[in-house]
Formats: sequence, structure tokens, C-alpha cells
Amino acid sequence: VKLMSDQDLSGKRVLIRQDLNVPLDDGKITSSVRIDASLPTIKKALDAGAKVMLMSHLGRPEEGSFDESASLAPVAAELGKKLGRDVPLIKDWVNGFDMGDADVVLLENVRFNEGEKANDETLAKKMAELCDVFVMDAFGTAHRAQASTHGVAKFAPVACAGPLLASELDALGKALDNPARPLVAIVGGSKVSSKLSVLDALSKIADTLVVGGGISNTFVASAGNEVGNSLYEEDLIPEAKRLREATDVVFATDVRTTKDGFDEWSHDSKTEVKAASEIQADEEIIDYGPETAARVAEIIKNAKTVLWNGPCGVFEFNAFAQGTETISRAIADSEAFSVAGGGDTLAAIDKWNLADKISYVSTGGGAFLEFVEGKELPAVAILQERAKD
Ligand code: 3PG
Repeated sequence: VKLMSDQDLSGKRVLIRQDLNVPLDDGKITSSVRIDASLPTIKKALDAGAKVMLMSHLGRPEEGSFDESASLAPVAAELGKKLGRDVPLIKDWVNGFDMGDADVVLLENVRFNEGEKANDETLAKKMAELCDVFVMDAFGTAHRAQASTHGVAKFAPVACAGPLLASELDALGKALDNPARPLVAIVGGSKVSSKLSVLDALSKIADTLVVGGGISNTFVASAGNEVGNSLYEEDLIPEAKRLREATDVVFATDVRTTKDGFDEWSHDSKTEVKAASEIQADEEIIDYGPETAARVAEIIKNAKTVLWNGPCGVFEFNAFAQGTETISRAIADSEAFSVAGGGDTLAAIDKWNLADKISYVSTGGGAFLEFVEGKELPAVAILQERAKD
């Protein structure tokens, strides 16, 4: 693909698609990881003398109308603070607008436009007309073929990859294509069903596949254990067995359980640690037991490459967080090339302040998983296509 760093941006109108889809709570940004990751690209474009237009989606609003709760206004304010300059939010931009004195503006949520998700050509052409150079830098949205990711790249005078997208592709490529071995993949989260293709793909390339969270529970059940009230998927037990035959799968052999119902969960919920073979019908697994966590930490210590997506327990509550904490710290302390991705994973890294100790923290959730599955990312594919121009 063409790279932003190879383009002459001086005096050019540069439209940068970023993934500024940050989590909001009551209008407040709860994680600015994606904003921070976008800053170097913006600064480079500004330093090169570009007139910079930033665009992104936020949430999943209904198309065709403005929805205050999905407005990028909080993001514009945060960008302004971090860049030390005003970043005006442009509400009506599809048919062209005047940047005035500003050298960087943020265009309001692309998903307010009819046709964004359907990758409508008319809309994509209008976006393309806004710029001289289109920069795709939204790795987190690269798995979506939408007007602001794919269509605009098709029609823009020049379409190239931004530095963030390029480094994401580099880091993931390093972990997956010809990795330093042993390669240990850790896949946590609630459901086998939502990560089956990832587990499948990783079972073929990882030396050890570690599963955590609700996914581990299904494996615990597949080994013939009672899992009580735990989150698990009975219908996926055959898949769990198949994966265990295909590769070395590590799952919980001791667990932390609670009898508290979901509504009663708290930082000091009462828990018990026991062997996976001793879970009672009225108990729910909410974390790895300490033995399993220590075993996984040892596996991580001996790894040369670690790929991590998804927590090993309900780490949001301190009472259920030890497993995820042990594993996160083991990854941070390891000498291995480590790549982590996914919303919950980033929240765990944040909780223990470990971002600086992980070799690469990806801004992708769904895109990260699809890349790991070996799927083509449409917004990258179109850049490859355009590179042949
Ligand atoms: C994400 O958060 O995974 C990306 O921003 C994509 O968002 P979407 O799933 O709403 O397309």
C-alpha cells in the first residue's frame, strides 16, 4: 500500500479516517486509548503543512439523523486539549465546507449520514471530493466496508495508509506470520461461539492455546466437570473437544467461584477457590484459581511471542480479578514480543497500568479478531488495489 509518510502533504486537503469510537459514560470519555493512538498521525500531517480533516464513527446511531448521544463533540474537545489547539467540530460537511482559519477539524459522526454503512457510492464520492489525499488510519474499523473506510478510498485522488494502520499491520504480522516460538495465544471472554473462528485459526498456529473466562468454562465442562451456574455453552462442548484434540489447550484446573448472583457482584464479593472437579451446582466460576493462573504465567514466561485477547475472569470486580491480573502482569514482565487487543483487554491493561510494558497494544476489537482469523480487511484491500494506480 501507499504510505502517508511518502506523500507530499504540504498545502493539501488531507482527510484522515480514524477510529475515534471511544467508550462514553454519560458523555464522558472512559478510555482515551484510541484518541492517544491517533495523535502522532495528526501531528505528522500538521507538521507536513496539511489542512487536516479528521473523520470517524462513534457508536451505532440510526442513520439519516443527528443523535446527540453519538455526537463526536466530547472527542473534539479532548483532541483540542491534547493537541493544544482548537479542533472545531463540523456538523454539516458532506457537501463541502470552509475550514476557515483552522488547520485541523473533526467531521461529525460519519454514521449520521444515510448510506455510510451500505458503502453508498454517492456518499463515498462526496467524501472523496473533500480531499486531495485520503489517509486510512482506522485499524479498528478496517474490517468494515463502509463509505468512510472503503468507498472513499476507492474514489479519492490519492489513498494511502496512515502510520497507525501501518504499525498495527506490522505488529500483528510479526506475531502471526513466522512468529518467534513458542507462540502462546491467550483467548478469554465470555463465549466460545463468538470466538470460534479465532480459536480455530489460533489452534493451527499457536504452540499453546490458553483459554480464559466463559470460554474456559466450556472447556472445563468438556473435561466432564460439573460447572454449576457458570456461564458456558453446552452445545459447543464438541467443538471444545475437537480443539483439545487439535492442539495443546490450557484451561482452568482450579477455579474461583461465587454464590452471589449477578446483581450482588461487588469488589468484595465472597469467593471460594477449588479444584475444577469440585464445583457445586449452586456455584458460578468467575475467575481462574491461583494454580491455573500461576501455570499460565509460567507458560507466558517461556514464550517468545504472546498474543492476547480477552480477560480470564470478571476482572472489573476486584474479588474476581486475580487471574486476569496475574496473566496481564506475566505478559508485561515477559521478554516475549507481546500483542494485545480488544476492548476488555485494553480495559484490563489500563486497570493495572501496563500499557507501556506490552510490546504492542492494538486499537482494534473486531478488526483485531478478523485479522487474527486470517480474514482480509476490506479497507486495507482497497488500499492495496489503489496502490496499483
Ligand atoms: C470497534 O469498536 O470495534 C470499531 O470501532 C468498529 O465499530 P462497529 O463494530 O460499530 O463497526
